[in-house]
Amino acid sequence: MRHSALTRRLDIESARVWDIHYLARERQWAGEDVILLTVGDPDFETPPAIVDEAERSMRRGRTRYGPTAGEPPLREAIARYHAKTTGQSVSAENVVVFAGAQSALFACALCLVDPGDEIAVFEPRYVTYDGVIDTPAAVRVDVPLASARGFRFDPDALGRAVTPRTRAILLNTPHNPTGIVAAREELEAIAAIARRHDLWVLSDEVYATLTYDAEHVAIASLPGMAERTVTINSLSKSHAMQGWRLGWAVGPQALARHLTHLIVSMIFGTPSFTQDAGLVALTRDLEEVESMERAYRVRRDLVCARLNACQGLSCQWPQGGMYAMVDVRATGLPDEAFAWGLLDAEGVSVLPAATFGESAFGHVRVSLTAPEAVLGEACGRIERYARSLVRPRSP
Ligand SMILES: Cc1ncc(COP(=O)(O)O)c(C=O)c1O
Repeated sequence: MRHSALTRRLDIESARVWDIHYLARERQWAGEDVILLTVGDPDFETPPAIVDEAERSMRRGRTRYGPTAGEPPLREAIARYHAKTTGQSVSAENVVVFAGAQSALFACALCLVDPGDEIAVFEPRYVTYDGVIDTPAAVRVDVPLASARGFRFDPDALGRAVTPRTRAILLNTPHNPTGIVAAREELEAIAAIARRHDLWVLSDEVYATLTYDAEHVAIASLPGMAERTVTINSLSKSHAMQGWRLGWAVGPQALARHLTHLIVSMIFGTPSFTQDAGLVALTRDLEEVESMERAYRVRRDLVCARLNACQGLSCQWPQGGMYAMVDVRATGLPDEAFAWGLLDAEGVSVLPAATFGESAFGHVRVSLTAPEAVLGEACGRIERYARSLVRPRSP
C-alpha cells in the first residue's frame, strides 16, 4: 500500500543517528560493561515534591480531558517563569502547553511555514530539527558554524543565507551539540536580520537554566522581537522531567490560538496531573534543581579537563547545556569511526557529531548525563582508546 510523501521525507539519514546508542544499549542489556553517553537523558530522578503532586493529582481525579492549551494556573506560572527568566513580560494568553519542547517545535513549524518556505538553521543542529522542518515540506537552509571559530554563532553567515523565500530562523541557545551560549551582541545581530527581512524566530531554549560561564539571553526580550519570536522551553532538562513530556511555546497571542487549533486535531491536550506536577516544579524553590545544576558544572569541568590533557583529543569547554564536544581529528580517525571503535574497544558510547551537520565533522559529542564516578571511568577508557590510536608506530 502507498504512504504519503511525508513518510519518505521523514525516512531520512538522521532517523539512523541513534543506531550507535541503540546497539550500545542492547549490549548493556545483554550484560556487557557499557557506559552510555550518547543521549541527553538526565540521570537524575525527578524531585520527589513533583512526583508526589502528580500522585495526589491523579487521586484527586485529575484524569479527565483538560483545557486544550493547558491548565490556566500552569499557563500563568509559565508566563511568570518566562518573564522572570527572559525579561519579556507575557500573560497566560501567550502560552500554549505541549508534550515537551519537541512537540512544541513541531507544531510551531506547522503553523509558521508553508511548503517551499525556507527555514535557516545554524549547523551543527539538533538532529530532530530535520523532521520538524521536513514535515511542513519547508526547506532547511544550513548556516555553518566553523569549528575553527569555536562554533560561535555567525550572524554574517546567516545574513548571507537569507533569501526572499526565508520565513523563519530556528535558533537554539544554549546550543546542542556545541555548548555555545549566544552572546547578547550575536543575538542583537540575528534579531536585526529577522526584523530587516520580516522573519519569525523559533527559539529553542531548553538548556536556558544550564549555563556555566555565560549569561543566557532570550532573543524575544530584544527590541522589536516579541511579535516575531516563539520561545520554546520545557521541564525535561531543568527539572529532570524528560519522561513526563511537559513543555511549552510562548509567542504572540494570534499564534497561540493557531497552535491551540492544531492541538485539537493532534493530541487534544496534555494530562492535567502532569501539569499539576509542572506547577509545583515552576512555583517552588526545589533544592534538587540547584544541586543538578551544580553537578552538571562539576561533570563538565571533570570531562573537559581530563580529555584536554589526553594526546589526540581536544575538548571545547561548553558554556551551557549538558554535552562536551571532543575534537578527535588528531587521532587520525573521523568521528564515525572513532565512536564505533570506542564502543567496540572500550564499551563507551558517544555520538559522532557529524550527524548534527558536516561542520562538526571530526568531533564526538559526550553527554554529561552520568554520575561523576562513571564519567571518570569513561574518560579513562576514552583516553586509553585515543592513546592506542596516536601511539607511535614501531619501526
Ligand atoms: C536542543 C533540544 N531541543 C529540544 C529537545 C527536546 O526536549 P523535550 O524533552 O522537552 O521534548 C532536546 C532534547 O534533547 C534538545 O536537545
